[in-house]
Amino acid sequence: MFYARVCLLCIFILSSSLTLNAIRSPGRSLNSVKSAIFLSPPFFLSPGSVINKYYFDVPFPRGHIALKSFDAEVVDEAGIPVPLHETYLHHWVVEGYYGRKTTKDPIEANPSEFEFFDHQFVKNSGICNRTLRQYFGLGSETRRTKTWVPDPYGIEVGNPEQIPDGFEHRWLMNVHAIDTRGVVDKLGCTECRCSLYNVTKDEYGRPLRKDYIGGLWCCYDHTQCLVQEGFGGTRRKLYLRYKVTWQDWDNTIVPVKIYIFDVTYTAAEKDSALSGCKVEYQVEQCDLSNRSNKECIDIKKAKMIIPRGGDIVYGSAHQHSAGIGSTLYAQDGRVLCTSMPTYGDGKEAGNEKGYIVGMSTCYPTPGSVKVSDGEVLTLVSNYSNTEMHTGVMGLFYILVAEKQEQVEKMSLDFHSFPLSVRDEVA
Ligand SMILES: *[C@@H]1O[C@H](CO)[C@@H](O)[C@H](O)[C@H]1NC(C)=O
Ligand SMILES: *[C@@H]1O[C@H](CO)[C@@H](O)[C@H](O)[C@H]1NC(C)=O
Ligand SMILES: *[C@@H]1O[C@H](CO)[C@@H](O)[C@H](O)[C@H]1NC(C)=O
Ligand SMILES: *[C@@H]1O[C@H](CO)[C@@H](O)[C@H](O)[C@H]1NC(C)=O
Repeated sequence: MFYARVCLLCIFILSSSLTLNAIRSPGRSLNSVKSAIFLSPPFFLSPGSVINKYYFDVPFPRGHIALKSFDAEVVDEAGIPVPLHETYLHHWVVEGYYGRKTTKDPIEANPSEFEFFDHQFVKNSGICNRTLRQYFGLGSETRRTKTWVPDPYGIEVGNPEQIPDGFEHRWLMNVHAIDTRGVVDKLGCTECRCSLYNVTKDEYGRPLRKDYIGGLWCCYDHTQCLVQEGFGGTRRKLYLRYKVTWQDWDNTIVPVKIYIFDVTYTAAEKDSALSGCKVEYQVEQCDLSNRSNKECIDIKKAKMIIPRGGDIVYGSAHQHSAGIGSTLYAQDGRVLCTSMPTYGDGKEAGNEKGYIVGMSTCYPTPGSVKVSDGEVLTLVSNYSNTEMHTGVMGLFYILVAEKQEQVEKMSLDFHSFPLSVRDEVA
């Protein structure tokens, strides 16, 4: 049990000393980029079984840092990557929280127990602050989706001025994986079809709506998808292996805010249960009898307000199998970022046929793609609907550098007057 705490296989690699400049210039950090590889606590899967675990205080770089990337994949005990057609990685999510220093978190806990710890989430900047609080999170596409935050930007973490007294910044990891070795219907199991899981109640014992035929409410922790009769298969010990890249924080790094848009978002309604982000949705099959006249594409749209504007410096979508692309549009209709899936065409990990193995990313030239405070953005998520699909998703991550901060930091560097003087003036 204690292995996870002491960071099993924790490999430190210090790099990029070559790129250091002797003279400090704006937007060029003197701090080298560091990276480390960690393993989640182990989880165990047999054919058809599901895990949906919440691991607390997972190994992570500490201190006041700028996060530069987060990459992950499922590996076995020997460290060998496991392909998606064996272990389908439905999603992993990494969320920050302030943990009370005097409280030692359990390695694993149900999220509903979280309130007993007297901790606070460190949420991203929006839009779904109840359901999508994470800093990072992807699914099957994780092996071939770039998460790199371009220079001079960084995701600021662990600023001592922001951490409440008596607390420290920790990380929570949610891993949801489905073992589809030997199952009757691989797509059905990955889309969490309730009939295949023989589930009629959610994980809290509440009966499901009659029209709910698939999605997260049917493939929770300990559920079991239907396996072919007589299929053997061993129980396996697996890990999420993740690589974090970061720099120590300094004033040349420009902080970025994380926004996650969700195509299931509905604006505030009288019944607050109906507003907010539902995270997943269902794609109905197109009318096949009329296929010649109609392209079988399900187009889902949602409008959301971005509270603060700035320069978009990164963008990428998250979709499930059958996804065929997603675009985030500005209020005037211009394209902010389009993210397209890559499907695998082989058997090996990272290239599994029929699965989304990567999503394309946007790295606009800094300053070339801007949004304004309070701008209404439109998210479009397209799926092929020659077949029906349950539990699909349409998320869009963007990183935004707020203009004011950037200008201020640049001028700080150019004039290089002491911070304390500036503070007194302000
Ligand atoms: C969550 O977001 C909504 C709407 O964007 C906002 O009204 C609310 O104050 C936010 N709640 C928290 C706890 O941040
Ligand atoms: C499905 O669940 C019901 C009751 O929970 C049980 O009686 C039945 O045997 C299950 N069917 C299968 C195929 O596992
Ligand atoms: C086929 O689609 C066209 C245009 O969407 C519609 O006018 C027509 O009635 C449809 N035909 C059938 C058989 O549904
Ligand atoms: C989504 O589908 C619509 C209609 O075919 C198309 O205009 C749009 O470009 C598509 N978006 C993406 C990202 O593929």
